[in-house]
Amino acid sequence: MHTVRNIAILVGSLRKASLSRHAAHTLMTVAPESMLLGIVEIGQLPHYNQDADGDDGAPAPWVTFRNEIKPADAVLFVTPEYNRSVPGVLKNAIDVGSRPHGHSVWDRKPAAILSISPGAIGGFGANHHLRQSLVFLNMPILQQPEAYIGGATTLFSDDGSITNERTEEFFRDFMERFAAWIEVNLAGR
Ligand code: FNR
Repeated sequence: MHTVRNIAILVGSLRKASLSRHAAHTLMTVAPESMLLGIVEIGQLPHYNQDADGDDGAPAPWVTFRNEIKPADAVLFVTPEYNRSVPGVLKNAIDVGSRPHGHSVWDRKPAAILSISPGAIGGFGANHHLRQSLVFLNMPILQQPEAYIGGATTLFSDDGSITNERTEEFFRDFMERFAAWIEVNLAGR
């Protein structure tokens, strides 16, 4: 009997037919039963502005978002690559969660990253730019398996369900390894 862990998923695309969102839904279906996964939406967050984050409070969507992330045991990032980096909407969410100074909601939460693209290199640039931020935010990041999902337009049907068995198997293994990584990092807490 495993301890149940709450995992927040952040999807780096707002597009209705997003391949990243399709991937996130597939990851939820193949994950071990010990993982309770839910997507935390980020598209409604106003751009981070330090002037609005004072002692008098913060915009309600920032507060709600921070309160959604805080109780999570771990965070899974599923993202496309924009111009060889992290889409602005995802970077904004990371910035919002990282402040006020000393109150970051990310600190010490185990994380994993899956990048996905129609292109051949599977969002490698976004994946590694994101790693750079997560290192600074003190999030232990799953190292292996790395997940750069290329050729993604061939992997899902129109309704978003996965059609490629090898990819589904890879996703299952990825989530099992992430579950184990979470336990290693949360042991003793
Ligand atoms: C892209 N795309 C893209 N793809 C890639 O592999 N590397 C890149 O650097 C970029 N850059 C980029 C910038 C912008 C502004 C857009 C809109 C798109 C293509 C991108 O991978 C493709 O649109 C994906 O389908 C986006 O992911 P979702 O929305 O399907 O999850």
